[in-house]
Amino acid sequence: MTPFLFVTDLDNTLVGDRAALETLNQRLSQHRQEFGTKIVYATGRSRFLYQQLTEEQTLLHPDALVASVGTAIYPNPDEDTLDPQWVEILSPGWNRDAILAIAANYDALSPQSDTEQGEFKASYHLAQDAAPEALPALESALTEQGLNIQLVYSGAKDLDILPKNGNKGLALEFLQQKWGFSPERTVACGDSGNDIALFAQRTSKGIIVGNAMSELRQWYEDNRTDDLYFADAFYSGGILEGLAHFDFIS
Ligand code: GLC
Ligand code: MG
Repeated sequence: MTPFLFVTDLDNTLVGDRAALETLNQRLSQHRQEFGTKIVYATGRSRFLYQQLTEEQTLLHPDALVASVGTAIYPNPDEDTLDPQWVEILSPGWNRDAILAIAANYDALSPQSDTEQGEFKASYHLAQDAAPEALPALESALTEQGLNIQLVYSGAKDLDILPKNGNKGLALEFLQQKWGFSPERTVACGDSGNDIALFAQRTSKGIIVGNAMSELRQWYEDNRTDDLYFADAFYSGGILEGLAHFDFIS
């Protein structure tokens, strides 16, 4: 057996079924111990909200935490120290104040809590019925000003404005190269819009859990390949199913 790089979203992907999570934790921690498999959490949450989750759920200590929708990589989630190389990659062309000033013109956007605002992430709530009009208008207003951004809409309610060079998928690729894992020995798991970048990067196998949100289901219908597995089971149960499908863990 050889090690693999395991990257997973947390809310409604890893977390949601406590019994299945316990089984998965056991398998992963054994694989890490025996073969050097690496475990990475890739979440939309800030490190602050990640820490809250660790008090509510039994989570393994990851080998790195990708927080804030890929815009913050913590080599050790217990310490408030960002990967400096990743900061350097995200910085060019990022002007948070200019983004906030433009976004303030859109009544449909309301800022998320202060804990969820990041150095490289501006986050808002945006209702689903307002999104089709607001998203393209905001995107052109921002890019017309030469701002190097991408918009990520998740769960039919959350809008994240991120640097063009940073999202969950690009963070996955960064760690994959840093640690020397091949695409065949990398697997990513998710359930919602901000996870599309994990799969769209096409540098890993992908597991979409059975309870996935409509935005990810739709993306899957348009982008099916043999490297993507849509599980029947929900949450960690779907991850276990996908890991067996791809022969990472039997
Ligand atoms: C998490 C984050 C939030 C983000 C959302 C979707 O809930 O806390 O800031 O908008 O994920 O990416
Ligand atoms: Mg999720």
